Amino acid sequence: MELKDAIEKRRTVRDFQNRIVPESILDYAIGNGFKAPTYNHQREWDFIVINKLETKLQLIEAEQLNKPVDSHKLEKIFENEESIMKAMYLDAIPKQHKMILEAPTVVVVVYRPKVRVEDAKRIYDLNCLASVWACIENLLLSLAEHEVYGVTFIPQHINVIKAKLGIPDKLEIACIIPVGYKAEGSGMLKQKSVNIYERMHKEKW
Ligand SMILES: Cc1cc2nc3c(=O)[nH]c(=O)nc-3n(C[C@H](O)[C@H](O)[C@H](O)COP(=O)(O)O)c2cc1C
Repeated sequence: MELKDAIEKRRTVRDFQNRIVPESILDYAIGNGFKAPTYNHQREWDFIVINKLETKLQLIEAEQLNKPVDSHKLEKIFENEESIMKAMYLDAIPKQHKMILEAPTVVVVVYRPKVRVEDAKRIYDLNCLASVWACIENLLLSLAEHEVYGVTFIPQHINVIKAKLGIPDKLEIACIIPVGYKAEGSGMLKQKSVNIYERMHKEKW
């Protein structure tokens, strides 16, 4: 597959088939993740690969995703928002619990922060986060190459998850990625299209 095909294919998927992702595909994607650019040449990233239901349930509990979502309230919150964004949130929010539970594999991406995010003062302090996201994109593209998809979920209760998974104190979680094959019949949300010539500026804005 050519790079442009993998880029086209990579989409966020939140509905998964009950089908195991071969370890070789995950190894390939994580291996390609490590080829991403990194601010300090260290590639200080780790991946926790979760397949057990009990561990997924620990993540769901830590993130308090067990509560039912009121779709009417949700509709109200987003009623005046831009239509593509609104469609995404209305689809995504009720699926946060199920996507972690039903994905055959969940990958927790861990990185070593330069400074804690809450203490960052300059953009340079966040280079560690920028680098791990370059790694995550390589990973997602490499999964898409094999028809495997993911959704980057940003946890809110990072310290609870760190304690549950035994992640060393000095490291942080960048995101949690439920990974799997797309469920048959599940739709794909519209991707906002951009006219690049409205966004490209020559020499000056
Ligand atoms: C930094 C970042 C955070 C995101 N957080 C979440 C999240 O917490 N839950 C979720 O379901 N999707 C999350 N997403 C996925 C976005 O909703 C998705 O990428 C976006 O709607 C564009 O769709 P596409 O990836 O199919 O192009 C996140 C994506 C990024 C890049």
